[in-house]
Amino acid sequence: KVTLKEAFKGAFYAGVAINRRQIQGADTKGRELIATQFNSISPENDLKWSSIHPKKEAYNFKPADDYVDFGLKNRMFIVGHTLVWHQQTPAWVYNSESGNKLSRDELLKVMEDHITTVVGRYKGKIGGWDVVNEAFNDNGTFRKSDWHDIIGDDFIEKAFEFAHKADPKAELYYNDYNLYVPKKREAVVSLIKRLQAKNIPVTAVGEQGHYGLNSPAVNQVEASIIAFTATGASVNITELDINVLPNANQQINADLGNTADYQAKYNPYAAGLPDTIATQLANRYAALFAMFYKHKAVISRVTFWGLTDGDSWLNGWPIRGRTNYPLLFDRAYNIKQPVFDAVVKVA
Ligand code: XIL
Repeated sequence: KVTLKEAFKGAFYAGVAINRRQIQGADTKGRELIATQFNSISPENDLKWSSIHPKKEAYNFKPADDYVDFGLKNRMFIVGHTLVWHQQTPAWVYNSESGNKLSRDELLKVMEDHITTVVGRYKGKIGGWDVVNEAFNDNGTFRKSDWHDIIGDDFIEKAFEFAHKADPKAELYYNDYNLYVPKKREAVVSLIKRLQAKNIPVTAVGEQGHYGLNSPAVNQVEASIIAFTATGASVNITELDINVLPNANQQINADLGNTADYQAKYNPYAAGLPDTIATQLANRYAALFAMFYKHKAVISRVTFWGLTDGDSWLNGWPIRGRTNYPLLFDRAYNIKQPVFDAVVKVA
């Protein structure tokens, strides 16, 4: 039986986001399946600022060290995710002990120290970094965040400069979602050109592939791949999963809780995924991968955001307590059909 890494060979790395239980916990089956199927890993949470650097004077390296060791042991391409983001970052990063916002220079110093320490520690081991994550709005403007408010538009450039200095050989990525939205896409194209004009190396754009069964259209995603790679950068598909559940917003958590209405309306497949939806999921993955294959010369990696359906963050986001089926392995670690073959066949 062909594995994902065999099927994608000669095209792109087969990547997966790996969690704490798989890295150092009881999930032996998960660890084995990851080693069998994939040749690249991303840390789902363990290299985020709040995990690896929770307090100013205290780093928590152990989970990240174990993550990197797992990748080295299995000869994988190891990804770092992520250095600068507006989420999962502790308040101390932006605030002084007295509670005032830091100045631009002070925050740049905090950023530089963090990047130098974390990238430096895994120099030559972590092959590429999502240096900055999710800095733009869908309309192409800068997202409001402490990073942007305090440092200004050049916080992205600074982060790339610090990362490059800490490991000159590491690949450096800008990572974001909804990059098929034209205004957001153009903002990122401009960013890449700005970095290139200043001789700041940027290897690739990471396109988070958090997709639905029907949107975005494959040709919208394709247009973004063409636009990004026209700059000379490559593309990573970084957080691929396909949400099969109805749209919902966070407010519903508070409004409906766990009532029967909520279950029927927002969690329709708690008892299992109907064949009709499984077929739609397979067709959707097949269409996406056919397009990824067409652009294999410029796509370096396709990374699924989680191993099994049970591991997926989409069981808890944007609302809690749902049963989702976004990935290629089921809750018992079995290959899911027809979706697995749909991905492997186009390969
Ligand atoms: C998610 C993780 O999967 C969850 O476990 C965590 O609770 C929140 O973050 N975009 C990103 C990822 O870049 O880091 C996010 O990961 C999903 C959205």
